[in-house]
Amino acid sequence: MSRIHIEAASKRFDKVTAVDQVTLDIEHGEFLVLLGPSGCGKSTLLRAIAGLTPLTEGRITLGDKDITHTPPRDRDLAMVFQSYALYPHLSVARNIGFPLRARRRPKAEIREKVEQVARTLDLSALLDRRPRELSGGQRQRVALGRALVRDPGAFLMDEPLSNLDAKLRTATRAELSELHRRLGSTFVYVTHDQVEAMTMATRIALLNGGKLEQVGSPTEVYDRPASAFVAGFLGSPAMNLLDARVVSREGRLHAVAEDVDVALDITGELSDQDSQDVVLGIRPEHLRIGGAHPGLRGVVRLVENLGSEELAHVVVGDARVCLRGSRPLDLATGDAVTLSAAPQHIHLFHRESGKRLVWRDESPTANRAAVELDYSAP
Ligand SMILES: Nc1ncnc2c1ncn2[C@@H]1O[C@H](COP(=O)(O)OP(=O)(O)OP(=O)(O)O)[C@@H](O)[C@H]1O
Ligand SMILES: [Mg+2]
Repeated sequence: MSRIHIEAASKRFDKVTAVDQVTLDIEHGEFLVLLGPSGCGKSTLLRAIAGLTPLTEGRITLGDKDITHTPPRDRDLAMVFQSYALYPHLSVARNIGFPLRARRRPKAEIREKVEQVARTLDLSALLDRRPRELSGGQRQRVALGRALVRDPGAFLMDEPLSNLDAKLRTATRAELSELHRRLGSTFVYVTHDQVEAMTMATRIALLNGGKLEQVGSPTEVYDRPASAFVAGFLGSPAMNLLDARVVSREGRLHAVAEDVDVALDITGELSDQDSQDVVLGIRPEHLRIGGAHPGLRGVVRLVENLGSEELAHVVVGDARVCLRGSRPLDLATGDAVTLSAAPQHIHLFHRESGKRLVWRDESPTANRAAVELDYSAP
């Protein structure tokens, strides 16, 4: 079984800590996506799993074997890089068969394996061509084939789709998901593209400055981001994040800021000194025009037509929020608007640590009356 366990892994280059104390379990058959902004350590962590970059600290096990110091070629892992360098003078068949020839497998076995992989990737008709006679997407599949032919314990992929145009990316994305389902093998996949992460991953591991921010299913990380960083990274446009204070009014809690007064669906009493600095988060698709509460009062700065939907950029106090809805929103530049959001779509984060604040029990069986804003947690 190809369960990958990473324990307290760190990698330092001189002054840069590229990977910082990452502990992560990747189960057999998972499609785990390492996601995060440029420079957050995704490639370094993947290369450490592959054995191409030695760790400064920590351990990696594959199945029950400690592979921390195992050379890359003995790791039973296949890596697909962003720049899928194919051998230009070799045919597609010889490119795919290369890893087997390097391992001196018998000719008949190589031919059979190459044909099988070519069928899987729909490359059978192209086996005699050279790489320059292929489209970008076909070259990409040859690079994948070269990894597949070895039947490895797990596939490691670093932005393998980044050289493809938008249409081909979408198609290859679906093919990769399909391939994963068919093979049932473990995939570890690096990308900074959140659409790739949301659509293909069984779980997403979000990295920020070498540290793991959150690991969870696409639904979990999108619906319950563990930090303001995750909230602000996922979503297009990302979640609106506003500095606010939690205060009590007539026994109920509200998040307030300039031109913002959002009723939280909980009771509580806070003295003025006890009012708390938070970051208020609401996704653009959860903002509604109008609503019962005072909500967010602002002026429309710009309306963008995305075809199926519209985005309205609204200035609220000294902040700017974005609202996304189906067309037409019936808003124009200069309009004064009031916006609101349902309590279950309101996120609160600790102002200093950025960590998610639990202010409503998110389990379906929750006794809502018992829930309090737990400000001490982060
Ligand atoms: N060989 C190296 N020597 C020194 N610093 C390095 C080296 N490799 C990576 N780094 C640094 O480590 C950090 C993480 O780099 P890494 O390549 O893992 O980022 P990434 O998340 O893959 O980014 P991108 O999305 O741009 O590919 C960066 O600050 C980078 O400059
Ligand atoms: Mg990278």
